[in-house]
Amino acid sequence: MVVLFCGLAGAFLLNLWGRTAPLKLIPLVDRSFLDTATVRRSYADLVAAKDDLSDFDCYACHERKKPPVLRYDANHKLIVPQEHSDIVMGHGEQGRNNNCFNCHDETNLEQLLARDGRVVKFQDSPQLCGSCHGPTFEDWEAGAHGRISGYWDRKLGAFKRQACVNCHNPHSPKFPSRKPAPGPHLLRPPIAVPTETADAN
Ligand code: HEC
Ligand code: HEC
Ligand code: HEC
Ligand code: HEC
Repeated sequence: MVVLFCGLAGAFLLNLWGRTAPLKLIPLVDRSFLDTATVRRSYADLVAAKDDLSDFDCYACHERKKPPVLRYDANHKLIVPQEHSDIVMGHGEQGRNNNCFNCHDETNLEQLLARDGRVVKFQDSPQLCGSCHGPTFEDWEAGAHGRISGYWDRKLGAFKRQACVNCHNPHSPKFPSRKPAPGPHLLRPPIAVPTETADAN
């Protein structure tokens, strides 16, 4: 017996059967995935934060009684002037809605003009978008498109509905694809699933 137990103790000491590998440290999720800020700040956000509004001060450069003239190249593609080079037009796949005055009011640049002729303030730009994107606008109002944050119970506090331009650049509104957030970390390596069971699904 003594010899047997000494032998066993020796085997354990020498680690003859090996040890289970130590668990790997789980890396922390990249902080950028936890950021709740929207991809853009709207005019309303800039006003609320008392930020630089010079881009919206149209008549610092334009003349009130002289609407800017739209210029096109030989392929009837809109030429965006140097002073507005931060604007990249690409509204719709074929640039179908690139005409500045489909949205901006020619006679008063400091306001927007909806498709149905309604004058819309920059703060209320979803009304403009809604005049062409009716179904999406209705989804947005119902809370199925976009994002609402704040209180579910309105008695406890206010809620905030993000504007279309918080997520879509009005000039090139296609939402760029983004990297998906990583899946949950498994404590142990997954067990291989037999192929028959996998196929049954
Ligand atoms: C820093 C000066 C500056 C500001 C601020 C500015 N613009 Fe302009 N904009 C220009 C210049 C310069 C041109 C080119 C000459 C022209 O057409 O008058 C231009 C051209 C335009 C055009 C014609 C674009 C084209 O493709 O031909 C539109 C429309 C326009 N601006 C709208 C606006 C609106 C709306 C605002 C405010 C929200 C604004 N601009 C603010 C300087 C400015
Ligand atoms: C689909 C509608 C739409 C079209 C088309 C459009 N705009 Fe705009 N534009 C907007 C809206 C809405 C805002 C305000 C966005 C916000 O709140 O951030 C804006 C903001 C601006 C601003 C101020 C902020 C900035 O981005 O500099 C300028 C200048 C401007 N537009 C010029 C133009 C010019 C020039 C054209 C044509 C080449 C044009 N826009 C075409 C809807 C449009
Ligand atoms: C004057 C009408 C009009 C207005 C106003 C308008 N849009 Fe559009 N929008 C269009 C058209 C036309 C298309 C292209 C549809 C297509 O190509 O099938 C489009 C396409 C889009 C797309 C899809 C882009 C893509 O490339 O897949 C988005 C997103 C969008 N608009 C958002 C907005 C937002 C946000 C606003 C308000 C700032 C707005 N639109 C205002 C007419 C409009
Ligand atoms: C919180 C962000 C957010 C807000 C707010 C938002 N959208 Fe979107 N929208 C998206 C995303 C993300 C997509 C892209 C979905 C995809 O690529 O499958 C999208 C897609 C779209 C499209 C493309 C066609 C479609 O329905 O898939 C249109 C048009 C559109 N949005 C219009 C609007 C309008 C108009 C508003 C405001 C009334 C608005 N969006 C508000 C995030 C937003």
